[in-house]
Amino acid sequence: MGIAPRIGIVGVGVISGQYLTTFAARSDVQVTAIADLDLDRAATVASGIPGARVLDVPTLLADPEVDAVLNLTIPAAHTDIALASIANGKHVYGEKPLAVHFADGRRVLDAAAAAGVRVGSAPDTVLGTGTQTARAVIDEGGIGRPVAATAVWGSAGHESWHPNPDFYYLPGGGPLMDMGPYYISSLVHLLGPVTAVVASASRLRSERVIGSGPRAGQRIPVEVDTHVSGILEHANGALSTLTMSFDSVKSSAAPIEIHGETGSLSVPDPNMFSGGVAFCARGSKEWEPVADRAGYIDASRGIGLLDMLAAPADADVRASGRLALHTLEIMTAILDSARTGGRVPLSTTVQRPALVPLGHEFDLRER
Ligand SMILES: NC(=O)c1ccc[n+]([C@@H]2O[C@H](COP(=O)([O-])OP(=O)(O)OC[C@H]3O[C@@H](n4cnc5c(N)ncnc54)[C@H](O)[C@@H]3O)[C@@H](O)[C@H]2O)c1
Repeated sequence: MGIAPRIGIVGVGVISGQYLTTFAARSDVQVTAIADLDLDRAATVASGIPGARVLDVPTLLADPEVDAVLNLTIPAAHTDIALASIANGKHVYGEKPLAVHFADGRRVLDAAAAAGVRVGSAPDTVLGTGTQTARAVIDEGGIGRPVAATAVWGSAGHESWHPNPDFYYLPGGGPLMDMGPYYISSLVHLLGPVTAVVASASRLRSERVIGSGPRAGQRIPVEVDTHVSGILEHANGALSTLTMSFDSVKSSAAPIEIHGETGSLSVPDPNMFSGGVAFCARGSKEWEPVADRAGYIDASRGIGLLDMLAAPADADVRASGRLALHTLEIMTAILDSARTGGRVPLSTTVQRPALVPLGHEFDLRER
């Protein structure tokens, strides 16, 4: 039996708690170091993890007791932390988006390939039973040839609940770069890669007001479009219509629907690991629930990193840098199309990651 891989975490803000809960429940992974620009925050988090040391960022990235870096910083810091991890010979898995700019994401993947280390990226929610069960139905021919999809997410904006929501309104943020990775990754798992996009976008306000926490009432600038609609042309001929918005007071739109020649599928929220898939065959009137038939059961954030470390070869990594780079190119192409009014062909493609067998479990010490 091998040694449990040692994880160093950079950035321990709001989302880090979900990863730490996942790791605390497993004996086949150890968190050995924590770093954050906010040293008090790093110390508080580390005090709850047996064996974890507080280090500054460069020391953590070079630490011999760190095998893989988990990058949970804000989007503007993702590239620098990833490149520095790779330069130190560490595997790196980061929160989404992979980078703010496509060229930076490309640099991260090129550097990792040259160094022989792995790059992975959130979202890993799409490895849960929700998206994976829908994927299994499509792969089995359950809806016939896929023709179209809709993917819709809307809210009034994260400033209502996040104590430091500035990054959501700066380049790398906005509803597309923030929520798009869940929906686009799910669409690529379900329908395969995208070859071109067309889009439009708008911006309701130039400022937002923080709604909670110590900074409540502070105004923050909006430097990105806050309502984005695009059409994704998939290589298999299917068209996905995507709308991501911080300008919706409320929405009850279905997260994702996939329409095929012989049936339609309702796919649950791709920001969740599980949720009910439903199917309606041509000629029927009602959605019928589909029992879970693929995906990691009861998974939580961090499973994508563990899947990456367990993969026999880099090509087997599911929440891969390759998928994240394709997703990033789709998103930046959508924003380019909205700015220029033109259709934007993509330069990247990606193979659909392998289906996750239902309940598939693994122990990293046996890898
Ligand atoms: N908050 C959520 O619900 C949520 C959900 C899913 C994904 N995410 C993603 O997770 C990432 C982090 O989001 P969050 O909500 O935890 O943000 P946050 O602002 O709460 O936390 C980010 C942390 O990173 C630290 N940090 C920033 N730059 C750094 C640097 N260069 N070096 C070291 N530390 C640095 C900050 O001090 C802070 O503690 C983002 O990419 C976001 O899109 C957030």
